[in-house]
Amino acid sequence: MPSLSTATPVATAGEEKRRKAVRLIPGGVNSATRNVGYPAAFSHARGSTITDSDGREFVDYHCAFGATLLGHNDERVNAAVAETFGTIDLIGLGVTELEIQAAQLVQDLIPSVDMSITTMSGTESTFQAVRLARAATGRKYVLKFQGCFHGWHDAVARNVASSAEGAWGRDPLSAGILDDAIDATLIAEFNDLGSVQEVFDRYPDQIAAVILEPVPHNVGALLPIDAFLRGLRELCTTTGTVLIFDEVITGFRHAPGGYQELCGIAPDLTAYGKAMGNGFPVAGMGGRRDLMERFNSAGGDVMLAGTYNGNPRIHGSRRGHHDSD
Ligand SMILES: Cc1ncc(COP(=O)(O)O)c(C=O)c1O
Repeated sequence: MPSLSTATPVATAGEEKRRKAVRLIPGGVNSATRNVGYPAAFSHARGSTITDSDGREFVDYHCAFGATLLGHNDERVNAAVAETFGTIDLIGLGVTELEIQAAQLVQDLIPSVDMSITTMSGTESTFQAVRLARAATGRKYVLKFQGCFHGWHDAVARNVASSAEGAWGRDPLSAGILDDAIDATLIAEFNDLGSVQEVFDRYPDQIAAVILEPVPHNVGALLPIDAFLRGLRELCTTTGTVLIFDEVITGFRHAPGGYQELCGIAPDLTAYGKAMGNGFPVAGMGGRRDLMERFNSAGGDVMLAGTYNGNPRIHGSRRGHHDSD
């Protein structure tokens, strides 16, 4: 019989689950920022509390990066989604009533949005916004700001929480991105209009879009200077550049109409997600009618596709947030 000192300590249920997860899933998690060590396996979530596989309760200050705005398993949201069960689910043709209601609600809340589409994630939303801007302007470059995060697609996956050496330089978030894709995205400093003007001077008539989080939450919630946002709006208007607000974090949170409701500046396109579905995967983008009508669904030349776009079952989630129209 092994002595106490040499006995292998018995793993808790949580440790067992974590080990199994690491065998089955790279790093044991489905998104790299979740790799925070122990506790790692959770079994329940309700309101502000999450419970791990060992039965320990935690107050969830993370809130899935702000997606679970109303708290976990909000009963109104759950009931609204449950209402769709047995009534409707994914339909690969036409449009559903819930999609029309969702578009109406988004457009009522965000006045700069004349038309909108729904996607499944913020990444898809900023992807569509950037592609649309390139198509509409016929220009190559996109300008983003050091520190802003817009998802993981190639056009925006650079210069987020860079090291001191990486900031301002060429700091891709991932291997495997084509050099051309990285280099077609230019970097300026948030709240520094001079740095933006410099990039515009270097690439005259070549910048398709300026994309920003109006409040860069991904590097600790920098507050925008009013004159900076106004200056961007003016510069984009005078140069024919598409101004994209990425309100994936700020949308439906800083104000029902997002940060643009508070600052009073209308971007050309807006991307949103997260809080829209209180944990259900629904996101979207929208903006100026003339830009949105470039989608090939409306006879334009920009591809709009996605098996799960506009999934009416998930669209039920936003009804729990708001009214019951
Ligand atoms: C500002 C911002 N934009 C876009 C995204 C990407 O959204 P998703 O993770 O839903 O693809 C995120 C995600 O954290 C975000 O914070």
